[in-house]
Amino acid sequence: MRIQVVIIGAGPAGLTLGRLLELNGVDAVILEQRRGDYVLSRIRAGVIEWGAVELLDSIGAGRRMHAEGLVHHGIEMSFDGDRQRVDFTDLVGKQVMVYGQTEVTRDLMDLSEGKRIYEAEAVEIHDFDGSPYVTYRKDGQTHRIDCDFIAGCDGFHGVTRKSVPRGAIVNYERVYPFGWLGVLSDVPPVSEELIYAHHERGFALCSQRSLTRSRYYVQVQEGEKVEDWSDDRFWDELRRRLNPETAEAMKTGSSIEKSIAPLRSFVAEPLRFGKLFLAGDAAHIVPPTGAKGLNLAMSDVAILGAALIEACVEKSTAGINAYSSRVLDRIWKSERFSWWMTSLLHTFPDNTEFDRRMQRTEFEYIAASRVAQQSLAENYVGLPI
Ligand code: APR
Ligand code: PHB
Repeated sequence: MRIQVVIIGAGPAGLTLGRLLELNGVDAVILEQRRGDYVLSRIRAGVIEWGAVELLDSIGAGRRMHAEGLVHHGIEMSFDGDRQRVDFTDLVGKQVMVYGQTEVTRDLMDLSEGKRIYEAEAVEIHDFDGSPYVTYRKDGQTHRIDCDFIAGCDGFHGVTRKSVPRGAIVNYERVYPFGWLGVLSDVPPVSEELIYAHHERGFALCSQRSLTRSRYYVQVQEGEKVEDWSDDRFWDELRRRLNPETAEAMKTGSSIEKSIAPLRSFVAEPLRFGKLFLAGDAAHIVPPTGAKGLNLAMSDVAILGAALIEACVEKSTAGINAYSSRVLDRIWKSERFSWWMTSLLHTFPDNTEFDRRMQRTEFEYIAASRVAQQSLAENYVGLPI
């Protein structure tokens, strides 16, 4: 088999790239190691930047998002119970869409059959500096696909980044000494807007999936086990970290999903190796504070898609030559914002009294300065792609 582009991974990055290429007459196939229903079982964040909304619209994947998603005009910040609203519409004239990223993946999967191969095992990439090809096993047989380009959209633990020679790639990383315990519950959200809360007991986030389904998080220490968190313990801890009126208004119920996620910042450089490109979580990880993971994956593949279309259709290499430096510029800015939000709002085990005063002062500065709020809003709604 010969095809122009082989995409590894059918998460949001791979599916969006596949659709962009398909719509522009570039022949592509997606190889995914898991089954489709497994991919859809992963619960992810729920805030979509407007640039990503427009990208999804442009490939025909926005219909259900507009019908069921909620347009949010701002967020609330809370610091030891003091509240501050950040009004995106007033500050920067933009909004975000609150819609589950798992639903985005479902909408992308429903778009078209495309060429997608699920349960592709032992995917290996070969000769990406010369005449690239990919091998994989399916139903007990080994297959080979020759191609012009390979797109590594296979997430943080995928095979593509690991296939690059060690000396050719630099990894930048920070692992945070805590995690987020998340609960999904069919109760109405406590607040119309998301609440990002700092508290001396740790960070808390009130998010939502719809007017009847809430998603809440609390910061937990390294090594905590989900089995030790009964629903009651979770609700008690969440309420303690919010201001009294919000805590009072909180509707609680049984959890339909409960899990702990680690927090990490990670960037690989560069993101092009001959005819191999990395995009999405294969290239970078952000801590979830600010919900940039899917949004960054969307901007990567918007730029990669345009570059590959240019290379395959117009036979121009300008786009692919510029890919790595163009996407990294935006990636580092989203990394900075996610790291900053994380640093401002979490309790760090080795923080000194001075560090705590700095966090408090940062919050007071935001509360008092329209310019500081504009900077937060500009980054939260998403920098231009
Ligand atoms: N071979 C084939 N497929 C693989 C391999 C492999 N060796 N390794 C991983 N995959 C698949 C995974 O099973 C997964 O379905 O690649 C896909 C990667 O998907 P994601 O991890 O969702 O990464 P990405 O598409 O970059 O999405 C980025 O979107 O859902 C949000 O917050 C999430 O930050 C994430 C963002
Ligand atoms: C979520 O809804 O799951 C969510 C929202 C905002 C974040 C992180 C997660 O910053």
